[in-house]
Amino acid sequence: MLRHRVHWAPRTWKTPLSAARATAPALPTQRLAWLPASQQPPRSRRYSTASHPAALPTETLSPSPPTQQGPPSSRTTLSFSITDRVGVLDECLAALRNRAISLTRIESRPSRTPDWDYDFYVDFTADAPATVQTAITALKGLAKNVRVITTHPGAAERPTPWFPLRMRDLDSFADRVLAMGEELASDHPGATDPDYRRRRGRITEMAKAYRTGQPLPHVSYTPAEVRTWGAVFNQLTSLYPDYACREYNHLLPLFVTNCGYREDHIPQIEDISRFLQECTGFTLRPVMGLLSSRDFLNALAFRVFHSTQYIRHPSKPLYTPEPDVCHELLGHVPLFANPEFAAFSQEIGLASLGASDADVEKLATIYWFTVEYGLCRETVRGPDGTPQSVVRAFGAGLLSSFGELAYSLSDQPEYRAFEPARTAEQKYPITEYQPVYFVAESFKDAKEKVREFAKTLQRPFDVRYDPYSQRVIVLDSKEKVLRYAQTINSDMQTLTHALEKLHS
Ligand SMILES: [Fe+2]
Repeated sequence: MLRHRVHWAPRTWKTPLSAARATAPALPTQRLAWLPASQQPPRSRRYSTASHPAALPTETLSPSPPTQQGPPSSRTTLSFSITDRVGVLDECLAALRNRAISLTRIESRPSRTPDWDYDFYVDFTADAPATVQTAITALKGLAKNVRVITTHPGAAERPTPWFPLRMRDLDSFADRVLAMGEELASDHPGATDPDYRRRRGRITEMAKAYRTGQPLPHVSYTPAEVRTWGAVFNQLTSLYPDYACREYNHLLPLFVTNCGYREDHIPQIEDISRFLQECTGFTLRPVMGLLSSRDFLNALAFRVFHSTQYIRHPSKPLYTPEPDVCHELLGHVPLFANPEFAAFSQEIGLASLGASDADVEKLATIYWFTVEYGLCRETVRGPDGTPQSVVRAFGAGLLSSFGELAYSLSDQPEYRAFEPARTAEQKYPITEYQPVYFVAESFKDAKEKVREFAKTLQRPFDVRYDPYSQRVIVLDSKEKVLRYAQTINSDMQTLTHALEKLHS
């Protein structure tokens, strides 16, 4: 019996690459020009904007503290204000340095009140929470308005993993695949076919060479490859009216019209990416094979989906042990044109930036039970015209799997309501049909729930995505938060004016 499902979703993998990066030299931080060398904070790396793979930073954004026993160390941000007199800043910093405190950021600005001259903002790591208190007490004797802005006991033991800040930082993922790609497992249908392996190697080489801003690789598919695609296309599209969610069935015809989805034509990801960008800002990038959970999810924060371009072996057109162009283009792509689904996917991606390994695993599990194997509830008209609540599929692993699509909507599996906190803990098989599926009320509802869930993750900062600069903004300073508030304020004014015009 053929197995029809693919079992590809981001998972947490251990890779020699992560070990290699962990030993790479740290990048220098921007130095504080107004401080003498003796007062410069240690050369730790914060949110690097390094984009060249060779400049890949270490996995951590802050220096790892020495291994120690006893109470956990704390990462703290505090502010204080001073009146301008000779030596006062040096006295304040000495008060911190003398207490086993490691400064990682110092920032000054003219005070907003007439009571003092300058406000200072300081990030530091202390060896224990008690040290923070003694430092504050000492500072209060030298400065005014000493305030703790944030403190995270134990945060120093949880260094923030590196994450991309700019679109072109995703280039560093190009050759960080964990499986498949150029190498095939011994049980892969194409493992002993040298022609298939050579063909596949040429396609993955193009993905490996791709860099942000270049045209996406064009693959001239052979007649045999098109026949394989056609067999899959015909089988799946005959099932969608009864099993796929309403949004999918609404969108698929748009891809037929705009991107050349046909039985006798394998669409090019360049055409699809351009169309998706016009719809929701999502774009595609070519990928050689399996990425780590972290890399794969991080890209979603940029509304970027990594897509393979090679196709399954022609000997088994209805089976693939890995993601291929059929899985990506038929299973995943259409729903990225839906604004709510796009926002939901990006929400998972944003939550993954800088998340701990444990939290990335939770997010990957949520991804698995939604984007790959998600079901949703919708209302349809029954034979007598009355509304009925039904369950339909929206996960790509289902929409590209003949067998599991029908199975998932039979009375065999168990359904549970999608609740990220519980879904994230659910174990699942990767080589069998799922015994449990989670049912979302809607994409919008799922997005809001993931956003709430993200607040519970252990991350001492928040992020947002700026689509104009295609950058991730880390909201870790008052200035950035204020700038964000101004953006929202501007949008609110536009909204208010639009509403006023509608009502006038
Ligand atoms: Fe997938």
